[in-house]
Amino acid sequence: MTTKSESKLSLVTCADKDARLALDGGEPVRTEPLPGPYPGALLMGEEEEREVLEVLRSKGLFRYYGPEVLGKCKELERRLAARVGTKHALVVNSGTSALKCALFALGVGPGDEVLVPAYSYVATADVVLSLGARPVFVEIDQTMTLCPRDLAKKLHAGVKAVCVVHLFGVPADMDAILAVTRPLGVPVLEDCAQSLGAQYRGRTVGQIGDVGIYSFQLNKIITAGEGGAVVTSTPKVHERAVRLHDHGNDREGDAPTADMIGEGFRLGELSAAVLLAQLGRLDEILGRLRGAKRQIVGELAGVPGLELSKAPDPEGDAGVAVTFAVESAERAARMIKALNAEGIRVLSQYGGKPIYQQPAIRAARLEPEPLCPRTQDLVARTVFLGLSSTYTKRDVADVVCGIKKVARAV
Ligand SMILES: Cc1ncc(COP(=O)(O)O)c(C=O)c1O
Repeated sequence: MTTKSESKLSLVTCADKDARLALDGGEPVRTEPLPGPYPGALLMGEEEEREVLEVLRSKGLFRYYGPEVLGKCKELERRLAARVGTKHALVVNSGTSALKCALFALGVGPGDEVLVPAYSYVATADVVLSLGARPVFVEIDQTMTLCPRDLAKKLHAGVKAVCVVHLFGVPADMDAILAVTRPLGVPVLEDCAQSLGAQYRGRTVGQIGDVGIYSFQLNKIITAGEGGAVVTSTPKVHERAVRLHDHGNDREGDAPTADMIGEGFRLGELSAAVLLAQLGRLDEILGRLRGAKRQIVGELAGVPGLELSKAPDPEGDAGVAVTFAVESAERAARMIKALNAEGIRVLSQYGGKPIYQQPAIRAARLEPEPLCPRTQDLVARTVFLGLSSTYTKRDVADVVCGIKKVARAV
């Protein structure tokens, strides 16, 4: 049954839906699978094919030399930097490689302390450990991103870097964060793996801190299956990232000799070609995601018992996901089960756990838990729905009906 307040506001009509939960033998809201959360991948087309064929036919699959060098990586770097608003961009083979390059470029090394949000994909903390440094976890707040108040408590002049993650496409509160870090001169890395094109108060994420990174893995906003990028306006940071990514070399710069140990993080021309075509679709992808999110969030606002995650600047949200918390982890688990039975695929992202409870990170740590009790509580009761760039009006309506139906019954 639709309540009075819902029917007044709602553009979506759920009246024809069976009120009995699919879990209890009712008819599911959705029987056809919904399109998945693969924003760039689902919109690939002729442009990507043309780009890839051009590279294949040239036989120039490597960025620095070959039978022919088409310069796809270089062109991608030029266009990414222009789009983000930084002086430099470096493309690499994954978001994880980009994170490692960025932290290394900021001077992070063995024994250093790096502050990271307690909730993110595990790579955010993995790279800190892989550089021999120590991740120190900071609470997140209802935006699901770094809490500036807890940051202020944990930051000191000896911290080597702060990593901010614009998780689920939602820009963190950068003004409040920089107000804490700038007086101490601690550099900020923006992990924009999930938020290419997101904006915070008119600025594109990635150019607000000292260095930014992106991922182009399959479920990211644009994709070549794998890939990543480092953006910065500081020449020294760019040069150090370039050298780490290519065995110590700076083939186009002033320091061509490999006098430092580096990695094999280069991106191939085929991937860059795909990403050039995908970057050309970025505005369309963001428009579709944002449109779907605006409608879903608008329909769910005011549904009793659902606390929709907040955004410091909702206009700039990339719109890759809708997340909401309920009053307990048990209710979240029941809702997730019920929604999946309705054909609406939701989950407890990252197992509903902070990074420090992920097994590999836990094994590397000594401090007693809980390190960030507020985060631990919040993420355990949060439900995550990854949005698709190809939702139709019907798909959006089904998502809304499914969540309302389950929220009433569970
Ligand atoms: C927040 C965040 N940081 C870093 C990464 C790592 O990116 P990749 O999978 O391209 O290595 C991801 C990937 O999911 C991510 O979500």
